[in-house]
Amino acid sequence: MYRILVINGPNLNMLGIREPGIYGSESLKDIEARLNELAGNEDIALSFFQSNYEGALIDQIHEAYGSFDGILINPGALTHYSYALRDALSAVNLPAVEVHLSNIHTRESFRHHSVIAPVAVGQIAGFGSYGYELGLAALKRHLQKFQ
Ligand code: DQA
Repeated sequence: MYRILVINGPNLNMLGIREPGIYGSESLKDIEARLNELAGNEDIALSFFQSNYEGALIDQIHEAYGSFDGILINPGALTHYSYALRDALSAVNLPAVEVHLSNIHTRESFRHHSVIAPVAVGQIAGFGSYGYELGLAALKRHLQKFQ
């Protein structure tokens, strides 16, 4: 049984309301419910955390040390500038997969760069909420192969 923490950063609590043309019409609760269904069939135990506060996200990553096998994370805008979040992921050294609903590489130039990507196993972007499912599958495969 793999224990995976799913973390969502700032403004992702507004999914469904926030710019639906870019982020889709599903709420974060909808996405989490679907992930839970998937995880049930995959021998994965999921926990979910969302915060609009960088420090709360960092605390949660620290707490994951020793209690989770991997992290699936959409850091929201923190992706592009939070060295503190990146350092938290390095500190706990848990395999992390970075997910974005939108294709950050085709949007404004400030979104093209991720400071998280160098400490992630990989990045999935542009597949909408399906990206979380892809990310979960990728993280499970990584854990099976390398942990
Ligand atoms: C996002 C992309 C970020 O640039 C943006 O700030 C978000 C959401 C995505 O899921 O596409 O909040 O991470």
